[in-house]
Parts: sequence; structure tokens; C-alpha cells
Amino acid sequence: NRKVTTHRLVEMKQRGEKVSMLTAYDYSMAKVIDEAGMDVILVGDSASNVMAGNVTTLPMTLDQMIYHGTSVVKAVKRALVVVDMPFGTYQGDAKVALASAVRIMKETGADCLKLEGGSEIRESLERILSAGIPIMGHLGLTPQSINKFGTYTVRAKEEAEANKLIEDAHFLEEIGCFAIVLEKIPAKLAARVASELTIPIIGIGAGGGVDGQVLVMHDMLGINQGFSPRFLRKYANLHEEITKAVKSYIKDVKTSDFPNEKEQY
Ligand code: KIV
Ligand code: NA
Repeated sequence: NRKVTTHRLVEMKQRGEKVSMLTAYDYSMAKVIDEAGMDVILVGDSASNVMAGNVTTLPMTLDQMIYHGTSVVKAVKRALVVVDMPFGTYQGDAKVALASAVRIMKETGADCLKLEGGSEIRESLERILSAGIPIMGHLGLTPQSINKFGTYTVRAKEEAEANKLIEDAHFLEEIGCFAIVLEKIPAKLAARVASELTIPIIGIGAGGGVDGQVLVMHDMLGINQGFSPRFLRKYANLHEEITKAVKSYIKDVKTSDFPNEKEQY
């Protein structure tokens, strides 16, 4: 039950062992997920959607990501903890990017960071990597660019965008990223990238020909009823379970069934 490291993920790819990855944003859930044996826990900026109720990931601030990251790191003993750099903290000045990265690493105690994008953020990637901070890349549907894309539909279906993605994946490997998330792209393209690269490719909506899978915790647990894209497998229906439990509690309070003789001092 050794702590998972970035190096171990690369070894897992060499052995053909798939990498399991799931998001978490708070102490209690991160503890459950870590104890269940997850390889990688992502403190995703999807917290913007599932925790804060925003429509996009753009509003997330550095302080908010640090709050979530700190809570998760306190709970995790084994999994590799990755924290997303939020929108606006790394796309411009590379010195600002490094300062943001250093704040996340120092204040949360996370193992590494995830940044969206390829060659267009080269300077930020170089500066953060040169400080000894491991980076997971993220290509394909990159939600921080939703205003450029206009929709959350599958990316890189056209040849030009597919070629740019392949180029960017090689670029990220060469610059020194230890893994890449590929989000919502054709399975064939993702499999090709996974076969051409030596670093692990973690897919979400990218098919089975990659080296691991990531999902958003609230989606796979079925807490979020309205969200059912094709790639999402629901492993529980917590919306139903929680509703049942909450309704029972309300009923027991109203009927004075709760608390009973044994449930008081
Ligand atoms: O923020 C997030 O949850 C993510 C995953 C979807 C990869 O970036
Ligand atoms: Na994210």
C-alpha cells in the first residue's frame, strides 16, 4: 500500500496496468475514495460545477482550489493527489503561472498539478516543471476553453484538430509531463496517442484504448441526476438513495419517531 507516485503511473503503463482516477473535493469523500484503493485523486476544477453550482469551470479561483486541495490532501494516504490549476492562473505570464503553482503546492501539500492546453502554454509549463513540480496535461475538450468551443460536444473529429492534438500530446511528453488527460475525443484518436506515447494517457469519454480512466465523482455516483452523456457509467444512484434517507428522516421527525428512548441521554 505504498503511496502512488508519478513514476509509478509510468511503470503501470509499461506493465499494462490501467490507472484508476476519480475526482474529490472534500476530506470525507477523499478518505472513502482513497481507502477504496483509487490510484489517482483529482481535485478538479469541476468543483466549480458540482460543488459551487456554476455553469462553467471559469469562475474557480486559486483560493477556492487551494481550499479543496487542502481538504483532500489531509484525507489521502495512498493515492496520487493532482490539483487543477484554475482558469486565468497560468495562461498568461509564466512567472504568474509559477507563483500560482507554488502556492497550490505549498498550501495544499498536493503531489502535482494539471493544466489544460498544449504548445500555447509552453512557457508556463517549462517554468513550473523546472521548479520540480510534476504536471499532468489535459487535451481535447478542455472546459476552461468552453467559450472558444461554444459546446461540450466531442472534440478533434476533424483532421486539423486531431493533428494538432497529436502534436500537442507529443509536445507535452517531450517537455516533461508525466501523464495526459484526453477528454471527449474519438476513441481511435485517443488509442493512437496512447500507443505513440510512453507516458500514461488517462481518458474521459475517450474510449478503452488508453492507459486509464477518470470520472467526476458526483457523476459516477449518480448524485447529479440531469447529467447523462454517453461516456458516463453510473455506479450508484445516490440521488435516489439520499432522497430516500432524507425523506425518512423528515418523516421520523414529524411523527416524533426520532429520537426514540435509546437515542437520548
Ligand atoms: O475538473 C475535472 O473534473 C477534470 C476531469 C474531468 C478530467 O478535469
Ligand atoms: Na478540470
